[in-house]
Amino acid sequence: MAELRARVSDWRAAGLTVGLVPTMGALHAGHLQLVRRAFEDCDRVVVSIFVNPLQFDRPGDLASYPRDEAADREKLVTAGVQVLYGPLVEEMYPEHFSTGVMVAALSEGLCGAHRPGHFGGVATVVSKLLLQCLPDRAYFGEKDFQQLRVIERVTRDLDIPATIVPVETVREPDGLAMSSRNRLLTDQQRRAAPKLFAVLTEMAVQLADGTTAAEPVLEAGRKSLSAAGFERVEYLELRDSNLLRPLERADRPSRLFAAAWLGAVRLIDNLPVIDR
Ligand code: PAJ
Repeated sequence: MAELRARVSDWRAAGLTVGLVPTMGALHAGHLQLVRRAFEDCDRVVVSIFVNPLQFDRPGDLASYPRDEAADREKLVTAGVQVLYGPLVEEMYPEHFSTGVMVAALSEGLCGAHRPGHFGGVATVVSKLLLQCLPDRAYFGEKDFQQLRVIERVTRDLDIPATIVPVETVREPDGLAMSSRNRLLTDQQRRAAPKLFAVLTEMAVQLADGTTAAEPVLEAGRKSLSAAGFERVEYLELRDSNLLRPLERADRPSRLFAAAWLGAVRLIDNLPVIDR
């Protein structure tokens, strides 16, 4: 950590701008898009890889989380990243670690309602990463839109001096949002997975007039996902894009949010209905 701080402080003293891209590794084209965006704005880019135990609500999920350090390193070197920061769990959370960052309201619905403690873990680790690195800007994907809003709020509320930059979701050619967890899908599940994006797209078109009642459309969407082989639709909701409050119709900037299970794999996605 001291070494990272020193590097960044030298760069900033030399008038260079610094971007941070926090990740949990198993890097794919979505992560690399964040890196590319960072290089558009910043002279130097730091990527952190840290599989954060604090944000996993199920021990099995942490154990099965894909890890591929050699391939990650190669991708980042190719992308021209200056520093790969990979702290150990005991460095991040030394004995007697007892402080947590909690973001009320924003953390409570959607993924927060189904993954107790998850956003507390995210908010805590991202606060630490931002304070360890002190970048000018940090890049986060809209794929995890609730996470993005939580992080924007933490940064503002705790006066962390970094600009949070959102990056649009990167998708496979068939529409499936790229995710490290996609590697865990069987061939059959992989064929069903793009239905999540297809259903969201169809629903967004239906709701875009701003007057159509959301609930019947959402109910039909849940049924389509079940019919496509998703065993459990954890949530499928229309929310406003800023405070993430539930909406009855898309009469302001709004997004559809979904989480659904294929076997043991939980997929999430979201799509704007009315953009900004
Ligand atoms: P991870 O899932 O590795 O994702 C790291 C970053 O990449 C996040 O900002 C995420 O939103 C973004 N990302 C993932 N898939 C994407 C896609 N298909 N398109 C665009 N961006 C994508 O999210 C985390 O790690 C962690 O919670 C973290 C923020 C690192 C804190 O531990």
